[in-house]
Amino acid sequence: MLLYTLAAVLAVAVANPVTTGGKVVCYYDSKSYVRESQARMLPLDLDPALSFCTHLVYGYAGIQPDTYKMVPLNENLDVDRSHANYRAITNFKTKYPALKVLLSVGGDADTEESTKYNALLESPQARTAFVNSGVLLAEQHGFDGIDLAWQLPRIKPKKIRSTWGKRIAFSVDHYHRYFRLVRYPYHCSIWHGVKKTFGTTPVDDKESEHREGFTALVRELKQALSLKPNMQLAITVLPNVNSSIYYDVPAIINLVDIVNLQAFDYETPARNPKEADFSAPTYTPQNRNPLLNVDAAVSYWLQHGASSTKIVVGIATYGRTWKLDSDSEISGVPPLHTDGPGEAGPYTKTEGILSYPEICAKLINPNHQKGMRPHLRKVTDPSKRFGTYAFRLPDDSGEGGLWVSYEDPDTAGQKATYVKSKNLGGVSIVDLSMDDFRGLCTGDKYPILRAAKYRL
Ligand SMILES: *[C@@H]1O[C@H](CO)[C@@H](O)[C@H](O)[C@H]1NC(C)=O
Repeated sequence: MLLYTLAAVLAVAVANPVTTGGKVVCYYDSKSYVRESQARMLPLDLDPALSFCTHLVYGYAGIQPDTYKMVPLNENLDVDRSHANYRAITNFKTKYPALKVLLSVGGDADTEESTKYNALLESPQARTAFVNSGVLLAEQHGFDGIDLAWQLPRIKPKKIRSTWGKRIAFSVDHYHRYFRLVRYPYHCSIWHGVKKTFGTTPVDDKESEHREGFTALVRELKQALSLKPNMQLAITVLPNVNSSIYYDVPAIINLVDIVNLQAFDYETPARNPKEADFSAPTYTPQNRNPLLNVDAAVSYWLQHGASSTKIVVGIATYGRTWKLDSDSEISGVPPLHTDGPGEAGPYTKTEGILSYPEICAKLINPNHQKGMRPHLRKVTDPSKRFGTYAFRLPDDSGEGGLWVSYEDPDTAGQKATYVKSKNLGGVSIVDLSMDDFRGLCTGDKYPILRAAKYRL
């Protein structure tokens, strides 16, 4: 009898995935609405994801440069009567009453006058204009709160040079070919095989002012939101923002409900065009900067007093791609020499990035069709610490080489397992439109989201 009861309880738990486990914060990128064909995602396409999500984050609102008001970035799409996506998205709460829908601001989607994010932090009047307009905007469209995906200055990219020394010593020919590609100041450290020191070049000479301004912004926004019923406040730490510079953890942690750590894009083709590497390792691969991985990002927040259950670890649903050329190491093992971003995918149409369904299509080439490039060879990581990559060497004419660092359902599940083992708050999926929302890979819709959810 007891066994039957247990079985019944388990069956109920499986049928209601949202009631168990941690937070699953799902990002919706409104830009996906204007992509073409298979990549075009309409609000309706979100429905199959929402039974797995505890939070839905609408990305992104922006800031009006002159007034510092929080505003829709695309009036026509977001709020006008013809589309009214804000409302279409918050209306999902009728069907999914436990879902919290947050309006996020920034997220690198707000490109007009990028200095306004710093400037706003420096001015109490600007902060007030932002807070008042933001709370109103969220409230008017039925959001459950605001997420600050603040566009702070980034860590300068660094080369990982330790492996080059070894390789260059091998062949004089490579030495000459390589040095044509490298700026002069790097020569010495390469020649001597010296590992370049880690650290940052200062990019922001008002660091402490911006840190204090951000803390003030969080405090003021929290205060305004707490005058409304059940309004949440979240922050999203964007990739390559140095938390130890801008986030005063003890001062803000009690004011926020969720800290979304976008602990990925550590290596990207835009930041590191000549060198590919794991873009989102969970732990430090050998000879890499020990600060640039998920565990280091999480540890910073925990060590400064964040309660673990507020920390949410971001999982990217896209891969970062680089072009391999005839100078690239044929083993494919990172870090390796590359020649800029990989070519754009058929749906996302952006150099250096491929959505998960675009990657999975490249892993198979049925019947080795003539005129099609060979498929990518997938290399998994048995240690489960660094991630998966896939690649294809260039052909005899030097064309078609590609290297991709990406998450698949296995590695997403591994990150969720990491989150669980550290008793963290949960995972975030960044974003739903780059997951396989049509089920093109295996027939399952949202395979990355599902895999992460089930391992939490
Ligand atoms: C972040 O900033 C701290 C100093 O505030 C510095 O020690 C650290 O190296 C920086 N992190 C990275 C990854 O550059």
